[in-house]
Amino acid sequence: MSVKLEHVLKDENLIKNIEEIAKDTALLHGVLMRTKETPNSPEVVSYAPFTLFPTPVPTALFHQALAVQTHFNRLVDRVSQNPAFLEETLARFEDVQRNIYDHRFVENELWKRNIPVIRRQFEDVCRSGSLDESRRLFVDGHEIAIVYFRNGYMPQNYTSEESWEARLMMERSLAVKCPDISTHLAGTKKVQQELAQRGVLERFFPDEPETVAQIRATFAGLYTLDMGEEGDKTVAMALANPDQYVLKPQREGGGNNIYGTEICEVLENLKSSTERTAYILMDKIQPVPVQNYLLRPGAPLKLNSCLSELGVFGAYVRKGKDMVFNECVGHLLRTKSSEHADGGVAAGVAVLDNPLLV
Ligand SMILES: Nc1ncnc2c1ncn2[C@@H]1O[C@H](COP(=O)(O)OP(=O)(O)O)[C@@H](O)[C@H]1O
Ligand SMILES: [Mg+2]
Repeated sequence: MSVKLEHVLKDENLIKNIEEIAKDTALLHGVLMRTKETPNSPEVVSYAPFTLFPTPVPTALFHQALAVQTHFNRLVDRVSQNPAFLEETLARFEDVQRNIYDHRFVENELWKRNIPVIRRQFEDVCRSGSLDESRRLFVDGHEIAIVYFRNGYMPQNYTSEESWEARLMMERSLAVKCPDISTHLAGTKKVQQELAQRGVLERFFPDEPETVAQIRATFAGLYTLDMGEEGDKTVAMALANPDQYVLKPQREGGGNNIYGTEICEVLENLKSSTERTAYILMDKIQPVPVQNYLLRPGAPLKLNSCLSELGVFGAYVRKGKDMVFNECVGHLLRTKSSEHADGGVAAGVAVLDNPLLV
């Protein structure tokens, strides 16, 4: 199999042929993106970048990742319902940001079920939104059942006092928030790092050693940069072997992490100041590269050495204290050329891929 694939990868005529078919197939299936030149216009679209071939993923690891998702949902939920833990963890946290994915598919699924969807900016909500005496949320005369945030994960999204007022109004309302503020904060890197500390998962699942073990098995080493002895140890460790770590600021969406000698530059500057607490340190994961072609509008086709990352989606609904829905709802394999240290699909570095279970 591997010998054959090697031949296929080098058969230029074959590759050219399937390249064209693959791009047409992507367009036919709605794997679309607006173009860089006209990002705000639906008049011109192209395919979203993707790999020509699927990437081999070990079957057992794939199933392990999917199987742990409902436990992760419960963990996020329990963290979000523990304000004392969040406050203690995020006391010095600086800001929040998150990647944004295409929303139209979700919107269309809702319309199919006769659930009307309206899209509004924070400023619009501030202007035309209100809460009645029982805190029901109204926007332009419609009562809102669910608020889904497509934006608002980074401070730059709050361009005015009105945006903050709108977020607060929605947060205080009876509407279901996706996410509410505590779930939003539960997803931060600082929280991830705290959860990896000894004994912390046990606090959230006191009677479930199996659950704790399953979740912990998916963690890479994470280290605090809080002021104090432990944080000092982390600094020394990173400075001694920067190539073994990733330095992460509290940012999301890819392209923000710091690697290699740059870790030393940043830490040398920050190590004595509380500014270092805006970062966490993580063991660098060193996957085995796989050869593949990345298809990207306007870019020439080239065989690349690639690294992949499997993401698993979870969904849950809690009513009061009861979890009424908790499921693993899909996965996404993202692949990038191994010359890029990081960067998501939206950042233009990673492309969409499919796992080929082996
Ligand atoms: N520990 C790590 N080892 C190697 N690469 C990493 C590591 N952590 C993150 N990266 C790279 O950086 C990218 C973004 O980091 P991530 O922590 O997922 O932040 P984001 O919130 O931006 O998605 C990842 O997709 C991956 O390519
Ligand atoms: Mg990520």
